[in-house]
Amino acid sequence: MFSGKRILLGVTGGIAAYKAVYLLREYQKAGADVRVIMTPSATKFVGTETFSALSRHDVPTDVFSDGKITDSWTKHIYLGEWADLFVIAPCTANTLAAIVQGTSDNMLTSTLLAARCPVLICPTMDGGMYENPAVQSNLDRVRKRGIYILEPDSGYLASGIEDKGRLPEPEQILQRSAGIIRTHAIQGPLTGKKVVVTGGPTREYLDPVRFLSNPSSGKMGIAMADAARALGGEVTFLHGPLSVTVPERLNPVPFVSADDLFQQIKVRSDADLIIMTAAVSDFKPKQLQSQKVKKTDASLQLELEPTQDILKWLGEHKKAGQKLIGFAMETENLEASARRKLKEKRLDWICGNRVSADGEGFASDTNTILLMGSDGTSSSYSGSKPEIASQILRKIFPDS
Ligand code: CTP
Repeated sequence: MFSGKRILLGVTGGIAAYKAVYLLREYQKAGADVRVIMTPSATKFVGTETFSALSRHDVPTDVFSDGKITDSWTKHIYLGEWADLFVIAPCTANTLAAIVQGTSDNMLTSTLLAARCPVLICPTMDGGMYENPAVQSNLDRVRKRGIYILEPDSGYLASGIEDKGRLPEPEQILQRSAGIIRTHAIQGPLTGKKVVVTGGPTREYLDPVRFLSNPSSGKMGIAMADAARALGGEVTFLHGPLSVTVPERLNPVPFVSADDLFQQIKVRSDADLIIMTAAVSDFKPKQLQSQKVKKTDASLQLELEPTQDILKWLGEHKKAGQKLIGFAMETENLEASARRKLKEKRLDWICGNRVSADGEGFASDTNTILLMGSDGTSSSYSGSKPEIASQILRKIFPDS
């Protein structure tokens, strides 16, 4: 039900916090990737270790680093960007009031303010608290802002009283979550399709401090990944070392060398669409020296061997219905070379890219692409990389 979906689970300080552990497991069993944020008071009920061991990620509570989580001050931005759905379960009356006020005094409330994804809250508290006009008015106010609310269940509460206020069963929360994700899913020609996009350079190390590489900035790869996402694709962006931060919404996975990238691609080679924007090195040093190579007066011979041609391998192992899009970086004979690569690598489409001209190719913000299809068609696109990426994918995957 949640395959490829990302759930951000916010846990606040009520006795039902322990039930959020089961909820996390149920989301995972249903295929979701889950990350957890807790309010400081939630940690009085359940330790962060429980959630971090089960989610296999840090569990931030404070916006500021506590010494363990070095990048915690940016997490309130990127977790909200990463998630398909932010679920706060249980949500106490106190956190509900903070949401109404727009308070941002801990990681959970700060993330909520920054979040661009849909939000579901599960108010859970004693029955008297739940019926209090202040709580009911707060619920009305957050509902009007577009936050989804799952009403609490009635039953035996921690106080011993039978009343309304219990956290609903995980199954109910999962059902509601799935409905919200469906409502918010981008509907496009790539909806429900797994898309792998690669971008940036590879590095082929010859010793611990030196490598062969190229100036690829990853901008075109990020643009292609964003364009595929805008058409509804479930994108994973495999990227080489970049100086820009890759947005979490692209599900980034880093690689260093062509060999690394090949391993990462192989485990995802069942994707419906693979777009190879990465500038992969064709050669690597035959031997990796374990120590830094020392300077001498003599000349240095470096023996190189070919790397795996990843796209060619993908073409030879193509799955039924799978589409492959390659890029061709050329300094001369753009059309002829790109057409040859299209055929030799058994691609569906190739994006011919001139490297020499100003405002085109590596690191630039603009580009000119000659798109050629295996059906013999060709068309040309110029402009900013995001514009071109969007035009190319709309041409290949028109709205049906
Ligand atoms: N590519 C690949 N594996 C390699 C080299 C390239 O998968 N070892 C992919 C690139 O990501 C790109 C396409 O193949 O999508 C064409 O890359 P390019 O460097 O233009 O061409 P090459 O095949 O390397 O040929 P040449 O260097 O002779 O132009």
